[in-house]
This record gives sequence, C-alpha cells and structure tokens, in this order.
Amino acid sequence: MPPIQILPSLLAADMGALAAECQRAESAGADGLHVDIMDGHFVHNLSYGPDIVRMAKKACKLPLSVHLMVTHPHHLASAFLDAGSSLLMIQIEAASPPMPILRAIRERGRRTGVVLNPETPLEAIDPVLELVSEVLFMTVHPGFGGQAFIPTVLPKIKALRARKPDLDISVDGGITMQTAKLCAEAGANVLIAGTSLYKAVDMKAEVSAMRGMAQAAAPA
Ligand code: DX5
Ligand code: ZN
Repeated sequence: MPPIQILPSLLAADMGALAAECQRAESAGADGLHVDIMDGHFVHNLSYGPDIVRMAKKACKLPLSVHLMVTHPHHLASAFLDAGSSLLMIQIEAASPPMPILRAIRERGRRTGVVLNPETPLEAIDPVLELVSEVLFMTVHPGFGGQAFIPTVLPKIKALRARKPDLDISVDGGITMQTAKLCAEAGANVLIAGTSLYKAVDMKAEVSAMRGMAQAAAPA
C-alpha cells in the first residue's frame, strides 16, 4: 500500500485568512492541501473558483488536490490546471464524459483523480481506472463540511484495495481519528479532513497523531 498522506481540507479554514490557513496546513506537516470546488448545481453549495487555487499555490508549497464538485468539468478543468492544481479530480457522476478530461490532465503533466459518491457502485469507475492516479471515495454526501461519516462506503474501499495494491485511494468527509482508522484498515492511504484538522486546537499534533494511527491500522 502507498504511504499514508494527511490532507487538510481548506473548506473548514478561516475564510478571512485563507493564505495563512494554507501556511498553517504546511507548518502542521500535511502532505498536501485539499481544495473543494462547488458549482451550486452538482451540489447545493458554492465555494471557490480558480483564483483561490492560484492563491493557495502562492501561499504554500503543498501539492494541491483539487476536487471538482461540478456538473460540467470539461468547461472548467483547464482553468484549474492553469491555476496550479497538482491533482485534479472529477466526479464520475458529472455530466461530461470523463476520458477526454482525464487525458487532458495527463497531457499537462498533472495527476488525475476520479471521485465516487457514497451510493455510486465501484463498477462505475471501471472504464476510467487505468487513467487515474487516485480514486477518492466520498464518505459523506458532497457539498458541505462537518457531516457524519457514512460507514457503508468501507466495503467498496476494501474491494478496490484488493484489486489495486499500489493505487492512491483517498477518503473525504467526516474523517476524524476514529473514522480515519476504519478507512486505513479498509485500505485508504490518503485521508482528507476539514473540520477535524482545521478546528483542532493543535493541527500539527492532530496531523501527526492521525498519520501514526493510520500507519498502524493499514493492512500489511
Ligand atoms: C465535502 C468536501 C470535503 C469537506 C470535508 O463535500 O468534499 O472535502 O471539506 O469536510 P469535513 O472533514 O468537515 O467532513
Ligand atoms: Zn473534497
């Protein structure tokens, strides 16, 4: 299994101090920064545009994991690549055909990702699996931070890990010390957490505790 990575999700950061919040994640020893893009259509919420990714790129050196929760990613992918995304992830349920977008991301030398909602069957990503660097399992219904973890996703993580021992598998939504352990046991190696890291009293201590716990829980 690839190394455990801990990624704070900027959605839970202080909106009035975003550059400092990017730096706080970097100083806390995070492996990357997760940035959620919501279009008010694919999900019932609006968040950031490419300028926030550009800001994050300037503010810190962390790789930027950009999660497009948008209906038409083909209209937006290039703007988020221009802005400095290291990894660009599209939802498999979106309206745009995924293959041309994933190929375009690869052609720009960036990492590709596909995301599945909690109810989406694993088979849905079969056609794109060979083109992705990372598969993200949503462990809440996308759109908002601070929701409760949905444990029925765990068997899907386990099934994919059994098929793909070297793939980066991430989880996003309701990730705390407790749920991170369950995800790591199931085979997820990239843990994305908004509330539990940004609202922690000491983010650095939390990142390092989550990493240690996940490393111990991961299947050999
Ligand atoms: C939810 C987003 C998540 C969100 C997670 O739609 O994709 O990245 O920030 O927030 P928490 O960790 O608070 O559930
Ligand atoms: Zn996300």
